[in-house]
Amino acid sequence: MKRIFALLVVLGAIGSLVFAAGSGQQSGGGASASSGSLLIGIAMPETHVLRWQKDGASLKSFAEAKGYRAEVAFGDADQNQQNRQLQGFLTQGAKLLVVGNINDGVNSAIADAARDSVAVIAYDRLIMGSADYDYYITFNNFKVGQFQGQGIEQGLDLKSATADAPKYITLFAGSPTDNNSKFFFDGAMSVLNPYIDSGVLKVVGPYPKTSADNANFQRIATENWQAPIAKTRMENLLSNDARDVVLDAVLAPNDTLARAIIEACLADAKYAGGKLPVVTGQDAEFDSALSIKNGQQYMTVFKDTTKLAEAAILLADQILKGQAINIPGAELASGDLVSIGDTGRKVVKAYLLEPVIITKSNISVPVDAKFYTDAEAAQLR
Ligand code: BGC
Repeated sequence: MKRIFALLVVLGAIGSLVFAAGSGQQSGGGASASSGSLLIGIAMPETHVLRWQKDGASLKSFAEAKGYRAEVAFGDADQNQQNRQLQGFLTQGAKLLVVGNINDGVNSAIADAARDSVAVIAYDRLIMGSADYDYYITFNNFKVGQFQGQGIEQGLDLKSATADAPKYITLFAGSPTDNNSKFFFDGAMSVLNPYIDSGVLKVVGPYPKTSADNANFQRIATENWQAPIAKTRMENLLSNDARDVVLDAVLAPNDTLARAIIEACLADAKYAGGKLPVVTGQDAEFDSALSIKNGQQYMTVFKDTTKLAEAAILLADQILKGQAINIPGAELASGDLVSIGDTGRKVVKAYLLEPVIITKSNISVPVDAKFYTDAEAAQLR
């Protein structure tokens, strides 16, 4: 099943490339889309983290349900490739772009869109350093990080721990080129730093207190969210800095990296037979939900990306129709949260959806939200 899905994604990506090359072929129109309808270009960053495959498919089907033509392209974590895809959408006359970018190299393509009066919605990830777009839609990413910190607080029962018998943790962050990584990390550390300050929790390996400590943040970051990089870093930690301690927790920024970290632990005699550290995650990927159910990964954060895609297309529709923006289920960032939309050159309007913390006790939440296939859901009940 997974293979068929992957094949469809690959075919879709090839279709996008053909399309981007300007052959004039329409690779995306669904049955309900008429050839006269406006084109929305959807650029997703990568496929190696499962959610983006689902995000791309959901965005396309919500757009088509509203009568638009929609085209999805995946950037394979390569910003040059994504820029070519965005140029292809512009050449084809797209009226709006929904962009989950890879790094700031996207800015030239966003500037080209602005020059052509094409609206851009930054999707999930804020496009930094650009003044050429107005809208951003995402989850409250600081809260995602807070949930990860709270997962560790709960999993290690830090509230009752003492400095006489400290707990040991090692820290991982997401891609240094993804603005979200800083929010996740700072949210988690806002919960963990007080325990580190009081000596109850000890950090093994580099310890950036916040993402502002750029030198140390780079040392724990995981380029392009690549699982093999996290796995190798964990293996190195286990045989060096963490050789003489038993780790109680690992702050892992998402499920893909969490599972790579758990794999590295399971290959180490100290953890293989016994207790794994409390490992965090996010995205509520099926493999991680199963791992949580089976008592390996400790927690994840459920972000209902189907709802995010639906809200993004509603936003797109209201922008294209020149209507007042009203997105039920999303909060327009205001007050302290306004800075979430600060690109460094402009503050764009940021619409935020709510994440949900998931541990073994409420794994039914994403299941009941129909986040999984029926066959997957059956394994989680
Ligand atoms: C997203 C996460 C995802 C990560 C890696 C982040 O920007 O918010 O949901 O796990 O990218 O793709």
